[in-house]
Amino acid sequence: MSVDDLDGGASGAVDSYSNARCAAIYDVFEGPDRYDLDVYAAMVDEFGAASVLDVGCGTGAFASMLAVRGVEVVGVDPSALALDVAKSKPGAERVTWVHGTAPDVPPLQVDMAFMTANVAQVFLGDEDWSETLRAIHGCLREGGRLVFESRRPERKAWEDWTKATTHCRAEVEGEGPVESWVQLESVDGEYVRFVGVTVFESDGARVEERSTLRFRSRDDLTSSLEREGFVVDEIRDAPDRPGREFVFIARAV
Ligand SMILES: C[S@@+](CC[C@H](N)C(=O)[O-])C[C@H]1O[C@@H](n2cnc3c(N)ncnc32)[C@H](O)[C@@H]1O
Repeated sequence: MSVDDLDGGASGAVDSYSNARCAAIYDVFEGPDRYDLDVYAAMVDEFGAASVLDVGCGTGAFASMLAVRGVEVVGVDPSALALDVAKSKPGAERVTWVHGTAPDVPPLQVDMAFMTANVAQVFLGDEDWSETLRAIHGCLREGGRLVFESRRPERKAWEDWTKATTHCRAEVEGEGPVESWVQLESVDGEYVRFVGVTVFESDGARVEERSTLRFRSRDDLTSSLEREGFVVDEIRDAPDRPGREFVFIARAV
């Protein structure tokens, strides 16, 4: 595949990186070594996938990792700022990047689709989530697999989302020292609202990015997949975050 930069119109989705400086340093704070992705790369081998759709590919860590290994990859994300970062990664020229959301992906028949780093939790409404699952189903060949992770609500991960537990400071090339932390704002049933704060020490700029994530139950995730034509084959654990995540492996039937 060639670099195509298909602009699907982003389905009205907003850019979750409010600021190009924040998009550019995402990888520094997520960790340059994305150990969380190893298990997903191993599944590409386990299921013999030659082609992959990466939904919510962000700054392209997984898409470019697979492309370097010779997998045909399409990465889709509504954040133009994140895609700009993605396109600078090794292997990026072999990925087809789509600016938009899953329904914007042109007709495809891939072996596997992924949503890494809890992308599944950004879909707040039932219709949004169902529409995404339907679009992914339409991109998978019959028997193709969708793999995604979602935090287990019973673990209440948000209890650790305080400045004291999440504060990091890193030296960023071209920026100097940068501080970053996450602070919980509210919990309303399955909806958890928080703010990510980034402070650029060189000029004192402070950027606050507010987000809400939905913590769906195992049963809810299972039934939503079944309604959209998937069979849940397995729910695994994330080896780097034991007991904290559901890792769904669903098959398009
Ligand atoms: C936590 S980041 C994860 C990025 C990437 N998967 C990774 O492993 O680094 C969540 C991503 O979901 C994207 N996103 C937000 N709304 C979306 C939507 N409706 N459809 C697809 N992706 C979306 C954001 O732009 C962001 O890049």
